[in-house]
Amino acid sequence: MRSPSSVPSEEPDAEAASVHALKENAWREVAAIDAALEAGEIDETGWHTAIAGLVRPAYLAAGTPWGQSGMTRGEADWVSARRFVLAAVERNGTFLDCGCANGYLMECLERWAAADGLRLELYGLDIIGELVALARRRLPHCAGRIWEGNALTWVPPRRFDVVRVGLEYVPERRRPDLVRHLLSTAVAPGGRLVIGPYTEETGAPATERALVRWGFAVSGRAEVVHRDPRVVRRIVWLDGAEQSVSVLQP
Ligand SMILES: C[S@@+](CC[C@H](N)C(=O)[O-])C[C@H]1O[C@@H](n2cnc3c(N)ncnc32)[C@H](O)[C@@H]1O
Repeated sequence: MRSPSSVPSEEPDAEAASVHALKENAWREVAAIDAALEAGEIDETGWHTAIAGLVRPAYLAAGTPWGQSGMTRGEADWVSARRFVLAAVERNGTFLDCGCANGYLMECLERWAAADGLRLELYGLDIIGELVALARRRLPHCAGRIWEGNALTWVPPRRFDVVRVGLEYVPERRRPDLVRHLLSTAVAPGGRLVIGPYTEETGAPATERALVRWGFAVSGRAEVVHRDPRVVRRIVWLDGAEQSVSVLQP
């Protein structure tokens, strides 16, 4: 889910225009939930419940595996928007997808990595129980490696060479805490936290700048073109070993 101010229309035809309208509505709803939190009308648990209330029906009603992972366009867009996550993966190892939805990214990363000559063992976490159940049904060989929990507070039973997460999974004021928590509890020694993919204006790497402002060392980045030239899809990654001890203190 993106922030209300993010991506301009990329949709050329009528069906796509209606998808765009749906996304616009979702952005408005997220903005209203953010405002309710800021006004003290809901607490952070209420924020997660309200966001899950938007995500759950949309993902469960989708007719494609990528739709059940939040991609409203087709498979080619899914591949273009997600395969480049592997730019952050340099060797065989374990990979935790925080916010795994129906597990389709786990499934694709395992396959795409194998095509690139890498062996990845995929793990998943999601805050919505119904999506965890769906991911376990879809990927029976991974069922014991998919958990339900909030990435902001969940303490994993093991560490992972690569952990992926989206900053938008928590209220804006908790984003530094999310990064700190995952680096401290989920990323293995010598491991890496990947943030994204997210869509941003081409000339303005706002997410990377925010991470630096919060005190984190950004170790690398990758981006791919978007069909709208005003924006690009990006990931950044933070190597655990490059973070200062003080930034990891709660
Ligand atoms: C857009 S989908 C991502 C699917 C897939 N991992 C990908 O990157 O394409 C976001 C998922 O994150 C989950 N999620 C949102 N907030 C979360 C949180 N705080 N902890 C764990 N999962 C969360 C949502 O339930 C949803 O299934």
